Amino acid sequence: MATKTGEGFSSSFGAIMAAAGSAVGLGNIWRFPYICGKYGGGAFLIVYVFFVFFIGMILMMSEFVIGRRTGEDPVKAYPKLRPHRPGWRYVGLIGLVTCFLILAIYLVISGWTLNYFFESLVGTLSTIPDDGFGAHFNQFASSPLRPMIFIAVFLLLTTCVIVAGVEKGVERVSKLLMPILVVLLVFLCIRSLTLDGAAAGLSYLFSPDFSKLSGEGILAALGQALFSLSVGMGVMIVYGSYLPKDDNILKSSIWITVCDFAIAVLSGVAIFPAVFACGQDPTGGPGLVYQVLPLVFNTMGPVGRIFSVAFFLLLSLAALTSAISLLEALTQWVSGEKIKRTPSAIIMSLMVIVLAIAASFSFGEGIWSGIKIAGMQFFDFLDKLTGTILPPVCALLTIIFFGWFMKKDDIMDELSNHGMLKTSYFKVFYYILARFVAPLALLIVLIAGIINN
Ligand code: PFF
Repeated sequence: MATKTGEGFSSSFGAIMAAAGSAVGLGNIWRFPYICGKYGGGAFLIVYVFFVFFIGMILMMSEFVIGRRTGEDPVKAYPKLRPHRPGWRYVGLIGLVTCFLILAIYLVISGWTLNYFFESLVGTLSTIPDDGFGAHFNQFASSPLRPMIFIAVFLLLTTCVIVAGVEKGVERVSKLLMPILVVLLVFLCIRSLTLDGAAAGLSYLFSPDFSKLSGEGILAALGQALFSLSVGMGVMIVYGSYLPKDDNILKSSIWITVCDFAIAVLSGVAIFPAVFACGQDPTGGPGLVYQVLPLVFNTMGPVGRIFSVAFFLLLSLAALTSAISLLEALTQWVSGEKIKRTPSAIIMSLMVIVLAIAASFSFGEGIWSGIKIAGMQFFDFLDKLTGTILPPVCALLTIIFFGWFMKKDDIMDELSNHGMLKTSYFKVFYYILARFVAPLALLIVLIAGIINN
């Protein structure tokens, strides 16, 4: 427990569950399946695997090292490692601003999810006619009041966990929710795979179509890999500062990455076979989960309702553990000697809910939908900024710092737990991946993305 507030995870298992809880979220279950389908299924998957394991995982290890070495929040961690170059603190700051923006968007989508869970539970979702789900979603998401209620409830839950503390809140909730999430997902996969015609869904998800994999698809794969692993924004620096001293960073990072990847793929396996078996359009995009899946559940008869409750519960729980990590990062940053943890969490929650409300009002046909920034509605602008632009920029700066500005001895010392673990693997990780492969790949994809735009 090296942090300024004395907070920390009690065990490696707890730390892995919390970090996996941050990684596994709406990005895996809501975003990954439709992006994968859109950009060529198996072809996208190949590029995605590369980004996840050779860039995302390397960044995760780097952030853990920076966090545990310093025991500080991202803004203080960089200058602590390079006191003569205080300008690096801005990398931490941009990361935290990105967390703030992501949390606002995240709250809006989590609010929709909670509403759909509630509607499945009370049964109103099953009374909607087959051709009414699109209109139902648009009407709900664009309405000024109802989404706010669910956003507020979701944020309240998140804030309560943060106020409870890192070990008693974040770690305990993650240890409870992550296994439930896996069980629910496996249940959904089995149900989906046993439907007639499920094979077409699997083939849509896995057979590679390279003609659909454009430059835009490659940039989307990178953005998705970073977003999904929660790296580049400093959240893993924060969790790194809570890691137990004897945690094997390399091993934990591999576990978290494998778990995140597996859950994304399983989500595709839970969704697409069901969509195909019920004759629905798999290219539903972001609306797939809210407009197409409820219809799929309705066509399954009485079990559909159970399926629907389970699915939206799964999505809400996954979103909760991710939102917790975002709010934790912001809370840790603000809290210190002058402001304690609880007021910090409350101040940050109040600030972020204002932005979330603005984003919600500007969604679809909402009351602020006429206001445009860079030609986009505010919600879409935020989504673009946090989905494809800011994370790769922050990630590039983080890995350049790690590979080129941090002292190599500090890195090796931290990775080997002060010489307790064998270091030969870390040399490969450091000399090849962290110094060259990851920064170069990030740079190339970023430049290509800018040129393409
Ligand atoms: N990894 C989360 C997801 O896949 O939904 C989202 C996320 C959480 C992104 C925390 C970034 C972050 F810092």
